[in-house]
Amino acid sequence: MAKGRQIKRIGILTGGGDCPGLNAVIRGVAKPAHDHGLTVVGIQDGFEGLVTGKAIELYNKDVSGILAQGGRILGSSNKGDPFHWPENIEGNIKIMDRSDKAMKNYEAWNLDAIIAIGGDGTMHISKKLSDMGMNIVGVPKTIDNDLEATDQTFGHDSAVFVVSEALDRLHTTASTHHRVMVIEVMGRYAGWIALHGGLAGGADIILLPEIPFDWEAVYDKVEQRHMQGKRFSLVCVAEGAKAIDGEMIVKAKDIKRTDPIQLGGIAEYVSKMISDNTELETRYTVLGHLQRGGSPTPYDRILSTRFGTYAIELAIKQKFDRMVALKGADIVSVKIEDAIKKQKLVTRTNQTLQTAVAVGVNFGVKKL
Ligand code: F6P
Repeated sequence: MAKGRQIKRIGILTGGGDCPGLNAVIRGVAKPAHDHGLTVVGIQDGFEGLVTGKAIELYNKDVSGILAQGGRILGSSNKGDPFHWPENIEGNIKIMDRSDKAMKNYEAWNLDAIIAIGGDGTMHISKKLSDMGMNIVGVPKTIDNDLEATDQTFGHDSAVFVVSEALDRLHTTASTHHRVMVIEVMGRYAGWIALHGGLAGGADIILLPEIPFDWEAVYDKVEQRHMQGKRFSLVCVAEGAKAIDGEMIVKAKDIKRTDPIQLGGIAEYVSKMISDNTELETRYTVLGHLQRGGSPTPYDRILSTRFGTYAIELAIKQKFDRMVALKGADIVSVKIEDAIKKQKLVTRTNQTLQTAVAVGVNFGVKKL
């Protein structure tokens, strides 16, 4: 768009997996945008819609009453990366660069900017599109909470709530039947959901991708508890956790996705190893997509709304190529380039992790 010209048409898209709070962001963007007289174009199914040309105009009636709704009114796809576009050529899937199509639709729809809501993958794509001349403002979404540039992503709190509630429920069976209950939670290569959900739900052992675990430390902890008269244990294991000298468990691979790896299976393995190597009875639960669905927590509704309103404010001020972020109590913005430099991972010195240690949680190692 020409410099100095006011923005008139704003696109909005949500990339990657669904996440509680997405609709709250869309509402947070669209309501003030309409108040400023802007037209809001909802791009459907994430970047896929940008490449294939699927979009609808969003009116006030479309964004009214959606604050508490899970999912997203615009749909999504995590296979729509324009730079990694799977195409079926004579029966074979070939990965092509279709960013030119994304750019053409952006121009054809006469958009002045796009608000791209998504995680790490979405921000990487946004940076590349921004380098091609698209005006983009990013909003950090992911239950995994693994974006370094923001203190918290929206969706994480809702996922942690689900984990904590699940652990409360498992506690009942664990203590009644004197069992070791293992729960597998999401988070990909980051252990934030396991750490926060495990601490909130009173897990006795938390296994994280960042701290490869020692089987002996795990057996010792559950046996020790048993000997002390606490005849049950709760183990919260991140899907990306792995044993020392072990590998992450990959459930499936899908080359159509930018990151082809689908994790899953570690809880079953941990459960089996504990029952094979101790006298204790075990069961496992995989929480899966329950962590991504449903209504956002009040915290996420507020954070999402703050992110959305701040993002449209940035777009109106024509401050592009930036991602909104939470820093302390404030919403600020950072360059997208800086936001994707480093993944936020749990460190051994993290204060929350140390708090968990102080109340007796074991991280699958004899010494941290
Ligand atoms: O990034 C969010 C997330 O839920 C991860 O925690 C998980 O590994 C992945 O997405 C699962 O993706 P899918 O919905 O494609 O199974």
